[in-house]
Amino acid sequence: MRTYLVTGGAGFIGSNYIHYMFDKYGDDIRIINVDALTYAGNLENLKDIEDKPNYTFIKADICDGKKMMEIFKEYDIDRVVHFAAESHVDRSIADPDVFIKTNVLGTLNMLNAAKAAWENEDGTFKEGKKFLHVSTDEVYGSLDEDGGYFYETTPYDPHSPYSASKASSDFLVKSYMDTYGFPANITNCSNNYGPYQFPEKLIPLMINNALQGKKLPVYGDGKNVRDWLYVADHAKGIDMVQEHGKLYETYNIGGHNEKQNIEIIHTILECLREELPDDDPRKAHINEDLITYVTDRKGHDRRYAIAPDKIKAEVGWEPDTMFKDGIKKTIKWYFENEDWMKNVTSGDYQAYYENMYKDR
Ligand code: NAD
Ligand code: DAU
Repeated sequence: MRTYLVTGGAGFIGSNYIHYMFDKYGDDIRIINVDALTYAGNLENLKDIEDKPNYTFIKADICDGKKMMEIFKEYDIDRVVHFAAESHVDRSIADPDVFIKTNVLGTLNMLNAAKAAWENEDGTFKEGKKFLHVSTDEVYGSLDEDGGYFYETTPYDPHSPYSASKASSDFLVKSYMDTYGFPANITNCSNNYGPYQFPEKLIPLMINNALQGKKLPVYGDGKNVRDWLYVADHAKGIDMVQEHGKLYETYNIGGHNEKQNIEIIHTILECLREELPDDDPRKAHINEDLITYVTDRKGHDRRYAIAPDKIKAEVGWEPDTMFKDGIKKTIKWYFENEDWMKNVTSGDYQAYYENMYKDR
């Protein structure tokens, strides 16, 4: 039975990945989920699988290098899938330090712990051991509105403290591959959406605000472009890279689904109106009047767009979910899981929202 160590498995993409893997491999794999449960980590995302005998949750901080070493001693880990990170650009602009700590030093600890466990005395690595570092398209910087794509060969040009910290972590992984022959891959994915996404990010924030009749804060002119991918397609890409990708390679993951932010907001409003029953009182306030243009994000990247040619050609990956279906599924999930949204927006979220949006 193959054993996976997943870091950040209680977050948005990590929890979707764990669901994807158990759906695909059932009892043929074992997953150890290591997560510090920051504001973004939520064990409610995993409550349907928490009692599985082949699943273990360990509450631990990847910045605790000694603890990471102990985990590798206790379990014979075959695969690492490293999601744990601070992930929100606006928070990185307000408070960069924790991004460097978790994303850079935390990644270094994961590399050192895996290297110590997997390296033979002669400097080679044990057969079949693999580390996958989950990264982002933001490391490539920003594209012009009228053309171009991010390829694996595009030079790094990060602009926010978040993307600079992810770029640093990518370089650390590359350096371990080049220096030690450490068995790893890096994936750089575009914007994800789907169930369990924390409502600080565009799509769940707009769904939640619209349902409550709150303003929909659009940064700048609303014409910044992001390339959206349904989260299960990202999980599938990660798994396929570990199964079929070439070791030491980087793969971009994205589904050619570029949209301006304002288009996304119109689509969300339309879908909400379609899905809500006619007698639901919220239907009356879900309209375009909620859209409010606010002060732009500092250093706001204009456009992201992934060229997924390499992962398609070498790995055989392509996305299964078209945006129009994915966004409907996502909205339906938030309707059916109102308690999840209530739980994550009680407590600290209100203070976060007030702070982040009061001066915009
Ligand atoms: P998220 O913020 O929803 O989840 C992050 C998880 O990491 C949380 O469970 C949190 O508790 C955990 N964590 C944070 N600091 C930790 C620490 N010090 N020790 C242990 N656990 C810690 O993030 P996400 O959106 O699921 O992103 C996951 C990964 O994917 C990140 O590395 C991110 O850079 C990358 N990524 C995200 C997107 C996207 O659109 N969200 C796109 C491409 C790549
Ligand atoms: O591209 C991949 C990246 O996508 C990941 O690496 C990050 O972890 C993830 O957070 C995401 O970053 P973005 O900054 O693109 O996502 P966010 O949802 O924060 O914003 C998407 C766009 O919407 C961006 O242009 C800013 C805009 N926006 C966002 C918020 C929260 C608004 O206009 N209003 C808002 O309130």
